[in-house]
Amino acid sequence: MKKIKNICCIGAGYVGGPTMAIIAEKCPHINVEVVDLNEQRIADWNDADFSKLPIYEPGLDAVVKVARNRNLFFTTDVDGAIEKADMIFISVNTPTKTYGKGKGMAADLKFIELCARQIARVAKTDKIIVEKSTLPVRTAEAIKTILDNTGNGVNFQILSNPEFLAEGTAVQDLYNPDRVLIGGDLTAAGKEAMEALVAVYANWIPNAQILTTNVWSSELSKLTANAFLAQRVSSINSISELCEVTGADVNELSKAIGMDSRIGPKFLQASVGFGGSCFQKDILNLVYIAKSYGLDAVADYWEQVIIMNDHQKKRFSDNIIKTLFNTVSGKKIAFLGWAFKKDTNDTRESAAIYVADGLLEEHANVHVYDPKVQEYQVYADLAYLNTRDDAKNKELLNVVNDPYEVAKEAHAIAILTDWDEFVTYDWQRIYDSMLKPAFIFDGRKILDKEKFEKIGFKMYSLGTTKE
Ligand code: UDX
Ligand code: UDX
Repeated sequence: MKKIKNICCIGAGYVGGPTMAIIAEKCPHINVEVVDLNEQRIADWNDADFSKLPIYEPGLDAVVKVARNRNLFFTTDVDGAIEKADMIFISVNTPTKTYGKGKGMAADLKFIELCARQIARVAKTDKIIVEKSTLPVRTAEAIKTILDNTGNGVNFQILSNPEFLAEGTAVQDLYNPDRVLIGGDLTAAGKEAMEALVAVYANWIPNAQILTTNVWSSELSKLTANAFLAQRVSSINSISELCEVTGADVNELSKAIGMDSRIGPKFLQASVGFGGSCFQKDILNLVYIAKSYGLDAVADYWEQVIIMNDHQKKRFSDNIIKTLFNTVSGKKIAFLGWAFKKDTNDTRESAAIYVADGLLEEHANVHVYDPKVQEYQVYADLAYLNTRDDAKNKELLNVVNDPYEVAKEAHAIAILTDWDEFVTYDWQRIYDSMLKPAFIFDGRKILDKEKFEKIGFKMYSLGTTKE
């Protein structure tokens, strides 16, 4: 079996960065080089101040501290790293296409193809290519065709090794994954390549948790896992609306159904809607693949998960408008949270963006506080929607860096992210500083309704009957 000594990872993002940091920490005998086209990102990974790493993940700075410049290197020398490596992870982003065939649904594979062509051009020795990015099923075939037809006659093996880490818990997920999945060709050379990757993970993960499959099963498993997780959130969110009109309480329901061991308790937290870079993109991708094979019933089934999620975000902002006497024009509405979930500075597809957009359409003055998200990011997220111009967004929306400031003289507070610190605020002080009636819309169900009503707040807790 080929022993891996040099790894290169293309893409120093939320997946590539943390994954390579842990591999380097756990495998001091392997040299790991992480490359990225984005020079600023690489400079940030190399920053002497560990609080400035480009990605915020609890515990990640400590891992980078151990391994950086020992056997973990961040560089923009893509060609050099490719040439040296025995194994190359592709971890570039695969956004939903915004143009042409499959627009709004299919994954845009242009970065993947660029990587494959660059590897083909540079490689002079045999390489194992590992798809780390989430990709449509059968992408490995396309990568192999490019490599075999444009390369320098060297041998390539393509493996699929999807990443299941969740943001905010990336380090723990990488230390103790439920499973590691490796798909490859079932030929002798394919099996040898799979064994080489198994040996890397075996440095810290028990063998029983490392699964090997054919390459298509591995690619499709990743899309399916994310679709199932998102489906659970949409399922409980659909029930949250029913709870509000019937007098049932969605938290009590989650607990009751989650105690059925066949259902299980996880991913049953009703919310203002799931976000993140993966769920929506991967389901759209699944829908597109099903449609492209003519499987319309399958495609329609999964599309409902997205439709329900969009509905949940929309009904949250509609409810704010309706409750504030059908007009929010000129009213200050305070947002607590902008990230798509707690413990991350990532805002991709965050529900907050869409709820804000709905309120800005009604000319509300939205003021945002998030412990980790920076001002430029909030405006970039709104600009991406393209609903109104940048100047208008800046006129209507403010980003503040103090939670007490954000609430001052607000008509309402909306909780968009489940940050733990929100629960610990001096809520009496916040109540006293707001206009009355002081409304709270808890889109994450992190606040104790009874306690808040005692203070005097008019409280909407998602999935619970309004008073
Ligand atoms: C990951 C996965 O790779 C993707 O498949 C998954 O579905 C979402 O999460 P992520 O790490 O979150 O992507 O993306 P991002 O943080 O945007 O990082 C990708 C990096 O690749 C960026 O830093 C970008 O500059 C870099 N890149 C992109 C290259 O270095 N070369 C390219 O050609 C394209
Ligand atoms: C997800 C998958 O969990 C991970 O395995 C995959 O590799 C990438 O996609 P991530 O997007 O980082 O990870 O976060 P996740 O914890 O899955 O949450 C996704 C969204 O669903 C968040 O907006 C979260 O707040 C929401 N959510 C999650 C709920 O609303 N309710 C829940 O019960 C769980």
